[in-house]
Amino acid sequence: MIETMRQTFARVFNSGSNPEAFFSPGRVNLIGEHTDHEGGYVFPCAIDFGIYALARRNDSNTLRLYSMNFDGEYPVPFETKYSDIQEKLTGSRTWVNYPLGIASILMKHGYSLTSGLDILYNGNLPDGAGLSSSAALEVLTVRIFSELLGLGIDGVKAALFSQEAENSFVGMHCGIMDQFAVSMGKKNHAILLNCSTLDYSYAPLELGDCKIIITNSNVPHSLVGSEYNLRRTQCESALADIKRVKDISCLCDLTPNELDEYAYCVKDPVTLKRAVHAVSENARAKRAAEALKAGDLATFGRLMNASHVSLRDNYQVTIPELDLLAGLAWELPGVIGSRMTGGGFGGCTVSIVENGQAENFMNVIGREYKAKTGRKPSFYTTGSADGAGRLAL
Ligand code: GLA
Repeated sequence: MIETMRQTFARVFNSGSNPEAFFSPGRVNLIGEHTDHEGGYVFPCAIDFGIYALARRNDSNTLRLYSMNFDGEYPVPFETKYSDIQEKLTGSRTWVNYPLGIASILMKHGYSLTSGLDILYNGNLPDGAGLSSSAALEVLTVRIFSELLGLGIDGVKAALFSQEAENSFVGMHCGIMDQFAVSMGKKNHAILLNCSTLDYSYAPLELGDCKIIITNSNVPHSLVGSEYNLRRTQCESALADIKRVKDISCLCDLTPNELDEYAYCVKDPVTLKRAVHAVSENARAKRAAEALKAGDLATFGRLMNASHVSLRDNYQVTIPELDLLAGLAWELPGVIGSRMTGGGFGGCTVSIVENGQAENFMNVIGREYKAKTGRKPSFYTTGSADGAGRLAL
């Protein structure tokens, strides 16, 4: 991978000093879905797939960007002066909005970008699969700026700047989970993150004789932007209704019993279902992390299944293809738990499967899913990885 990138780098950016190598993983969320924007807990881990970059300072004082995934038809890099970065681009080469968003947010926070940069990206994360290719691109770019321009930005700040770039430059009102997971990931661990305080702890991802299998429905999550922002608005409206009688700052301040008690305040039944999901999922995420720490994989798996049911019936962000994948998995031997992961409306499920049953899992699901939907699913097995940073080569 890196060798091919070196050749492309030399061709696209011409002569100059040798670039340095960087990597950012993607992430998979094990449980705690659609809780981050409601101040709740999430439990993701960084994965082995991600985005690589080669980068160096240049003396032209411009930002020059090229993606081997998206720019095949262009002979030259995208190029801009920092002072020309105003708002997001529409039309072609829109992937550059992520690195441009980062440069813009760094300048807004007073960092002086004292040198131009040449950056070549190349990833093996499937695009639109809900494995956080956007967050990976953002955090990777912060790391490159920080290391090559000596900005001294730590992992938590890198995640916050990346989320801000996505919210205010790209226009997706995501929570902090994805950026935090890809920035702060730790090999062989999942991260239990309180999204309201940003307190976090690492839990050893000890799966015994089981592994994580990610199944891609191969339905790109295209609606995720608009529907995601709508779900957030519905949660805000449930919060406003309850706040009239109870002093809370976010939905996940409530336990499921408390929500039950105050449910009468939420006038609209659909809005109430959104709140029921956020609050119950938050409780599941906390219990699941405890179960994993105690080595109780069976409870962890049942909570994963319950999470899918709530995302399907209360939050309504699954699609028939994701319900089919999870439903097939629940029937198979050696499946500890299975659920959709990420924003929804397409993308992947995450399953914990006994090693000895992994092949059967992929065979049966591959066959049944194809027969019922006409699409072939893709399978990825992954360990948990370290967060974004410079690669020692
Ligand atoms: C997307 C968002 C995250 C989070 C998940 C759902 O991945 O970027 O902030 O809300 O959806 O859990």
